[in-house]
Amino acid sequence: MQKVRKAIIPAAGLGTRFLPATKALAKEMLPIVDKPTIQFIVEEARASGIEDILIIEGKSKRSIEDHFDSAPELEQNLASKKKTAMLKLVQDTTDIGVNLFYVRQPHPNGLGDAISLAKSFVGNEPFVVMLGDDLMTDKVPLTKQLINEYEKTHASILAVKRVPHDEVSAYGVIDPESETEPGLFNVKKFVEKPAIEEAPSDLAIIGRYLLTPEIFEILDHQAPGKGNEIQLTDAIDTLNQTQRVFAHEFKGKRYDVGNKFGFVQTTIEYGLKHPEVKDELRQYILEVAQRLTKEGK
Ligand code: G1P
Repeated sequence: MQKVRKAIIPAAGLGTRFLPATKALAKEMLPIVDKPTIQFIVEEARASGIEDILIIEGKSKRSIEDHFDSAPELEQNLASKKKTAMLKLVQDTTDIGVNLFYVRQPHPNGLGDAISLAKSFVGNEPFVVMLGDDLMTDKVPLTKQLINEYEKTHASILAVKRVPHDEVSAYGVIDPESETEPGLFNVKKFVEKPAIEEAPSDLAIIGRYLLTPEIFEILDHQAPGKGNEIQLTDAIDTLNQTQRVFAHEFKGKRYDVGNKFGFVQTTIEYGLKHPEVKDELRQYILEVAQRLTKEGK
């Protein structure tokens, strides 16, 4: 069995939900407290045993490459001022423990199109896709959970989570056939962003996929789907007709940083764990809650 060594992080979206912040800055560089969201994803990959990552970039994404590059002047400056903790933070972004590769998606034709650009990078190996809008926390990183399942089944598998029924049309949704073991589903169908009344379940695809390389042949011929874009979900549905594609229910915590409210929520949750600000933030939230309760009367 081949080891899962490679990951793809699509980061070519226009980031329109965060304009004007994303006019000149990649959405993936927006920080949660002090760390860009894409760094969380790269760290999850490394913690899952991934060795090589291809980041698929769009326009104005130079900031991502610069972030993971060394910064000699800054590092010298911090070293001369003996700011060793800060220096380590900076160096950790370069010595991140994985090899990073970059490619540009010239036209924003959808997630399936973005992934198809990774064909020669991946070659004939199983690989993972990690979407930057979803940050996950659990004892075992979600990508590692998928790899562990793959080592048993040797089949493609993607992560799902139950979402409130009125939110299903924001996601790819699975039509589960049977639960072969708790949290592991055989799937009848994968549907991209169904209408609420047509959704086959409340199990939504949440941005972590482990796929076999056969997906690329399918993507080569994939017709545009929802939103007139090449959809990864549609290609996975086709793959599932010739090879099993499982769904793994994630039981950990998911933070959606792809929309404004989710972003603010995530910032608060991570802030409450951040050693430098957690105490002050907790105090502040209690004060705000008190004020809002008073005002509400
Ligand atoms: C993408 C996928 C969708 C998935 C979602 C998870 O949609 O197309 O199937 O459920 O990510 O975040 P997007 O949010 O990019 O529109």
